[in-house]
Amino acid sequence: MKIPIINSKRQYETIAQKAEAAVLEVMRSGSYILGANNKELEREFCEYLDCKHSVALNSGTDALHLALRALDIGAGDEVISTAFTFVATSEAIGIVGAKPVFVDIDRDTFNIDPAKIEAAITPKTKAIIPVHLYGQPCDMDPIMDIAKRHNLFVIEDACQAIGAEYKGKKVGTIGDVGCFSFYPTKNLGTMGDGGMLTTNSQYIKDRVIALRNHGGAVRYYHDEIGVNSRLDEIQAAILRVKLPYIDKWNGLRREHAKLYNELFANCSLIETPIELDATHCVYHQYTVKVPNRDEVHKMLGEAGIGAMIYYPVPLHLQKVHAQYGFKEGMLPNTEDNTKVVLSLPMFAEITEDEQREVASKLIEIVEKTVALV
Ligand SMILES: Cc1ncc(COP(=O)(O)O)c(C=O)c1O
Repeated sequence: MKIPIINSKRQYETIAQKAEAAVLEVMRSGSYILGANNKELEREFCEYLDCKHSVALNSGTDALHLALRALDIGAGDEVISTAFTFVATSEAIGIVGAKPVFVDIDRDTFNIDPAKIEAAITPKTKAIIPVHLYGQPCDMDPIMDIAKRHNLFVIEDACQAIGAEYKGKKVGTIGDVGCFSFYPTKNLGTMGDGGMLTTNSQYIKDRVIALRNHGGAVRYYHDEIGVNSRLDEIQAAILRVKLPYIDKWNGLRREHAKLYNELFANCSLIETPIELDATHCVYHQYTVKVPNRDEVHKMLGEAGIGAMIYYPVPLHLQKVHAQYGFKEGMLPNTEDNTKVVLSLPMFAEITEDEQREVASKLIEIVEKTVALV
């Protein structure tokens, strides 16, 4: 049996009628940009997250980039984040001309280690971008406390974590700004690109509304250099169909994670993900740590199982950041994790049989490779 890491078509089939009707309605309406669906989606998103403002954008990358622009962060500034994330996080810092400063992660949660942040703060530091990786909330209390004491902004990269909670609050509403991605494989994915910025600040909302539309709040009057980062009405309409299902889908992911945990419980060679107390993880990925990871990954692929490595090269060692001269060894937990992590098939519609097949194949392959060494 072939089991992909995600099967977007299976989810589509569950909402096909509603999604097709919504798309058709947009096509027939003649209103394709910044129309009623954008407005309603922004309102529904605020309601879902319990925040004051949402601004629909073209991508999660633009949410991060425009958050930095709205906070006037740019050349000469430093932004603290993690190197164990998708490149978009540090790319956004680079787009505005600021320097990324990477802090090591906690070995077990994969997220930025708050205890290591203060040592990285300099007079140039303007913001912290915690990333709720794999749908697992960062430990936000100490991060917010550090930010407050040092007068720094907090921009939450919640691109992988819609619906995740920290102490009863949805991630993306704890810091000054929250950034979400609707890339098709995300827990709330659309059928193209899309993103959302959330904030409780009227000022940030107004700046981002202008920045997303060529730097002007009033048509044909431009106050600053902006971008074209509007979410199109077709994507907004699809997202409005999907948003009411997000808690159900996240709940299923949590059940699947529990089953995987049970299936791996007797195999001490496979380290399963943990959840911090008082957090609600939404398992964008179910990521284990295994010995002989590359060989195991290859053999799983040959057995028809679509596991993935998120991420094989940490950001401080990527060529794109070569100008800063970051050295191997400076982030040991990050670097160690890149060598052992393996994300397994995880999506709301995966079946129990498929999970059992993934688990038994993984256990068999891990044991075999260990025996060979
Ligand atoms: C952690 C993280 N940050 C940012 C992004 C960027 O989102 P997008 O692909 O919508 O630009 C992604 C997703 O791709 C992500 O996983």
